[in-house]
Order: sequence, then C-alpha cells, then structure tokens
Amino acid sequence: ADILVIHGPNLNMLGVREPGIYGSKTLDDINSELTHKATSTGLTLDTFQSNTEGELVTRVQQAFQESVKYIIINPAAYTHTSVAIRDALLSVQIPFIEVHLSNVHQREAFRHHSYFSDKAQAVICGLGADGYHYALDAATKKISQAK
Ligand code: DQA
Repeated sequence: ADILVIHGPNLNMLGVREPGIYGSKTLDDINSELTHKATSTGLTLDTFQSNTEGELVTRVQQAFQESVKYIIINPAAYTHTSVAIRDALLSVQIPFIEVHLSNVHQREAFRHHSYFSDKAQAVICGLGADGYHYALDAATKKISQAK
C-alpha cells in the first residue's frame, strides 16, 4: 500500500476505553473512514493494530518490502517506552507522522516524553480521531508532490 496506518496497544478498545479521553468511535470506524478517504484520492491504505511490541516492529519492517511511502503511527503506550519501534522506523527510513488522540502534554508527566517525536515528520495530538485525517491529508499531499 502507499500508506500504512499503525495502531499500538489498547487502541483495539477504542469506543469502550475511557471515551471521555479517547472518543466514542471504534477503531473499525476510524480505519474504514481512512481507507475510504485514501481510495477516493487514488491511494491505497493498509491498517494494522497490535498489542505486542515485536509485532509492531515486524509490521514496520514489512512496510519496507512493500515500498510503503508513508506511515501514520499511534504507538499508544509504546510512545513512552519503545526504543525498538523507534529503531524499526529509522531502519526502514519511511517518513512517518505520529498521532495521539489525546493531548499527551495535558496528562501525566510520563506521557510527555515520546521516543518518536524527534524523528517524526510531524506530531498531531489532542484532536481525537480527526488527527488521523489531518495526518492522512498531509501524507497525501506529500506523496502527490513527490510524483
Ligand atoms: C495515546 C496516548 C498514550 O499516552 C496512551 O498510552 C495511549 C493512547 C493517545 O492516542 O492519546 O494508549 O497514544
């Protein structure tokens, strides 16, 4: 696919999980909106969710084989812990946009540091599920400019 959207742990619980923080949409809702939007602009988009760090690393590595042009990633709790996923993104050298539903900077101090933000092309946080759409718009623009 042209664009790969990766969701980290517990994001499969969206809609059920702390809706006051994360919103009422399910992950399926978000993924199907993004897929439709990409298709309407002539791009292909894949989505992937895992609760396991190693599976997320492996999926990033696969993106290299698939010649994915852009990654949109919400590493969820791994944002604050994972050198391994960071290293995977650096190893494939695919540009990525980091998305968080909540404004992590308004929350606990342990959410203020990200292992991804200094390497991300952009970081979007605090805009709920809309953040993924803004990221997709940006990726779409970058891909069309590169053509
Ligand atoms: C999150 C923020 C993280 O701190 C948290 O662990 C998540 C979701 C967000 O989208 O707001 O699981 O990435």
